[in-house]
Amino acid sequence: MARFVIMSDSHITEGQEFNKDIFKMGVDLICSIKADFYFHLGDIVESGTLADYKLAEELLLPIKNRLIFIPGNHDARNVGDRLYGEFYGDREFEMETKIDGTKFYITGLDSSIPDQNSGRVGRRSRHTLSKRLDQLDDDLIKVVVFHHHLLPIPNTGRERSTIDDAGDMLKVLLDYDVDIVINGHRHISNVYKITDGSHELIVINNGTFSANKTRYRELHSFSIINVIPEEVTTSRIQIYTNKEKKVTKKYRHHPALRFGGEKLCRIVHISDTHFTQGREFQEANYDKAVELINKSGADVIVHTGDVTNEAYRLSYKIAADKLSKLQLPKVIVPGHRDCYAIGWELFPEMIGPMDPVWESPNLKIIGINTSLLEEEVGSVGRFELQKVLDEIHATKEQKIVVVAMHHHLVPVPNTKHVASLTDAGEVLSALGKSGVDLVLTGHKHITWSVQVEDAIISNCGSLSSAKVLSLAGNVFNILDVYENGYVQIDEVSLDENMRRTTGRFMIPVLK
Ligand SMILES: [Fe+2]
Ligand SMILES: [Fe+2]
Ligand SMILES: [Fe+2]
Repeated sequence: MARFVIMSDSHITEGQEFNKDIFKMGVDLICSIKADFYFHLGDIVESGTLADYKLAEELLLPIKNRLIFIPGNHDARNVGDRLYGEFYGDREFEMETKIDGTKFYITGLDSSIPDQNSGRVGRRSRHTLSKRLDQLDDDLIKVVVFHHHLLPIPNTGRERSTIDDAGDMLKVLLDYDVDIVINGHRHISNVYKITDGSHELIVINNGTFSANKTRYRELHSFSIINVIPEEVTTSRIQIYTNKEKKVTKKYRHHPALRFGGEKLCRIVHISDTHFTQGREFQEANYDKAVELINKSGADVIVHTGDVTNEAYRLSYKIAADKLSKLQLPKVIVPGHRDCYAIGWELFPEMIGPMDPVWESPNLKIIGINTSLLEEEVGSVGRFELQKVLDEIHATKEQKIVVVAMHHHLVPVPNTKHVASLTDAGEVLSALGKSGVDLVLTGHKHITWSVQVEDAIISNCGSLSSAKVLSLAGNVFNILDVYENGYVQIDEVSLDENMRRTTGRFMIPVLK
C-alpha cells in the first residue's frame, strides 16, 4: 500500500485570513503520520508577498524537508510566482517510484496564472504530459496533482475559478489512463469517480489546511490517501477534532461493457437549433435531420435548448413550425437564448412547458429550465434541484430516468471552461448520487460524454446553428439503452453524412 499525505490552501500571512494555531496543530499531526510522500498542493501563502513567504519559511520549518510543493493562485499574486521560485524551486515535478512493490508515476503541474484566481494547465504542459503518459507502462499507477479543481464540487458556493482548459485536461487524463487526480483550491474535500467508459479516474479534492475562509461545516483539514491497485481510500482529517471521514472508491482500468441484449429504449437528443430568420439557422441541415429522426424509431426526442437564436416572436414562429415536422414525442427545455425578454412568455405559448416531464413504460424524462433572464450563465436553483431529486426518487426503479437541461455540467474539451451553471457543484454531486441514469445537456455546441459517479452525462452538439464548434459540423445524438444497462451514444453528422459512436457506458443499477 502507498500512502500520501496531502495538505493545501494554508494561506499563511500575518493577516486574519490565516489561522496560525490550527496550522501549528496540523503540522504536529502530520509529523506524527508515516507516509510515503507528503504534498502541499498550493496556496501556501495568502498574498504572494515577501512577508508572507518569509513567515511561511519559519512556520513550515518542522515539515518543509518532507513536503513536495506546487504553487496555487495565491502564491502567484503580486509577483509571488518569482518568490515561489526562490523559496521552493521548480513549479512542477515528476517522478517514477516503486512503493510496496507497486510502481507509481506522480507528477505535479503548475496551474497558476500570475494575479488571477482562475488557472490554466496550458497547451504546452498538456502536450508534455500526454507524451509522457503515453510512454509509461500500463502497470504503473498514474497520479496527477495540480492546485485548481477539475470538476465542480459541492458546498463551495458559486462555481468559479477553475482551470480554463478543464475540458481538454479531463480528456487527456481519461485518454491516457490516469488513475488519480488530486486538487485543492476550493477549501472543501470531495471524491468523484469519473469515466469515459473505457477507463475510470478518481478525482480527489483536498480541503483547506489553515485558511480562515472555511465553507459550511468542514473547517480545517488535510487528507491521507491510501492506494492499492484499483482502490483508493481518502481520509479527511479534521485538524481541530482529529476526526476522520473515510471514502473508499474502487476503480478499474478497463470496466467491462456488456454489448447487446434487448434494447430498452432509444432517445434522439438534439440541441441548439437556433431557429431564426437568416443564415444563422442552417435550414438544409435541419430538414435533413428531420427526415433521419422521423425514421429513427426513437421513443422520444429530447431538445436541450437554445431552440431560437434570439427569442424573437418570428424566431419562435419558425421554431414552432419547424419542430412540428418532427413526428415523435418531444421534450423541449429552453436554453439561455430562449430566455431573453418576452422569451419567457413566448416559450410556454409556442413551444410548451419550460420544465416538462414525460413518461413512458420504460422512460421518464425530467426537463429543467436552467436559464436566467437575459443571462448567458444558468442555474438549477435550490428549490428546483430538490424538486428534481424528489421526482427521480419517486420513479419506479425499472424505468430509465433522464434529466434534460441546457447548460453543461462538466467541462467540455475544445472550449474555454467557464462555469456556465452557477450551482454546478451542488447539481453534479446530487445527480451523481441520485439514481438518475442519463443527464442530457447542450449549450457548448460540442458532443462529449462522461459518467460521473452513476450518472452518464451527455452533451450534444448543435443541430442547425451556423456557430459550428465541432469538426463534425451540425449533429444530433442517438442514445440506445439496453436492458443489461449498456448505453451507446452515437453522433450523427449532417455535414459529413456520417454516424459514429462517441460513448459507451454501463448504467450501474442494471449491471
Ligand atoms: Fe486557490
Ligand atoms: Fe447555443
Ligand atoms: Fe446556450
